[in-house]
Amino acid sequence: MTHRAFISAVGHYVPERIVTNSELSKLMTTSDEWIQTRSGIKERRFAADHEAPSDLGVHAALNAAKQARTGLNDVDAIICASLSPEHYFPGTSSFIQSKLGLVGVPSFDLRAQCSGFIYGLSVANAMVTSGEFKKVLLIGVEVHSRGLDFTDRGRDCAVLFGDGAGAVIIESCPSPEHGFLKTKISADGRFADKLWVEFPTMKRTPIMTQSDLEAGGLHPKMDGKFVFKTAVEKLPQVIDSTLSSINLQTKDIDLFLFHQANLRINEFVAATMNLDKAKIPSNIEKYGNCSAASIPILLSEQMQLGTVKRGDLICIAGFGSGFTWGCSVIRWF
Ligand code: ACO
Repeated sequence: MTHRAFISAVGHYVPERIVTNSELSKLMTTSDEWIQTRSGIKERRFAADHEAPSDLGVHAALNAAKQARTGLNDVDAIICASLSPEHYFPGTSSFIQSKLGLVGVPSFDLRAQCSGFIYGLSVANAMVTSGEFKKVLLIGVEVHSRGLDFTDRGRDCAVLFGDGAGAVIIESCPSPEHGFLKTKISADGRFADKLWVEFPTMKRTPIMTQSDLEAGGLHPKMDGKFVFKTAVEKLPQVIDSTLSSINLQTKDIDLFLFHQANLRINEFVAATMNLDKAKIPSNIEKYGNCSAASIPILLSEQMQLGTVKRGDLICIAGFGSGFTWGCSVIRWF
């Protein structure tokens, strides 16, 4: 019988530089009170001048490697989930692969924004359970700070996002009872422009004009209320359908690891689904929204705290630009 895949190692890295809400309020018209009330965020990390996205990814991967019996030596695929790529192309995964010295190992980027890590779990699980790959390194990494608009025009997005990276290793589970029980991913491209960076665009020439630049087209734009409304609708749906497909209920779950987009979104989902708040850890107050890196950073911190134990049922869920969303249920090994 083919065993399920499982997460055999976890690590994360966040840059040293802490940026508080008060610091942002010196750059734009905002306040600590506004940001905390709407999002739960107190501070976030910004990459140092010398740190590229791949550097953050490498640190996270090396931290995960410390937990792996054979380090990264036998990794046979690298997936990098990110919406803030180091370059237009090639993907950030190429730079990570080279810096890790894993020349020859297939590496690719996965673009599913804030759901990128969950999409990555689905892909890595399929790669491992197919038997084609033995040990997949999945990294979620974001350097948002260089793409944000720190003026009043961009303040709705600029206060929400932070930089960081998380990494996991996925391989075949030694135990038939443990590992990924079910992962569901979904998308609705009709709302692609509700949260996006419009330029540069390959759909026309030139790919960016001076007026696009002046209009802030290089920065993220978001219909915040619509994102909020859709997230709190889709998250309960995908959690319910994933759990019911494997005959589980929310009360069976030991730990919910939700994407850290906004504390209010997660509180709304918890209230709608009548979830036990004690089972929903959060770190958005320290890091803001790190998109594809949020969930692996949270998982890594929970591992360090010792809250993730063998046999626990973990439910991971997230929603993001695309729109994309997903849920993964894991019996922890
Ligand atoms: N500081 C102060 N005022 C601000 C800021 C800011 N940083 N940003 C926007 N405002 C202003 C707006 O200009 C607007 O002013 P106006 O009323 O004069 O036009 C006003 O604040 C809007 O205030 P609210 O209606 O209270 O804002 P809202 O309740 O919609 O909250 C928020 C905004 C926090 C963005 C909310 O819509 C939200 O959480 N949306 C979800 C977005 C999200 O989480 N995105 C993350 C990325 S997607 C993902 O990962 C799921």
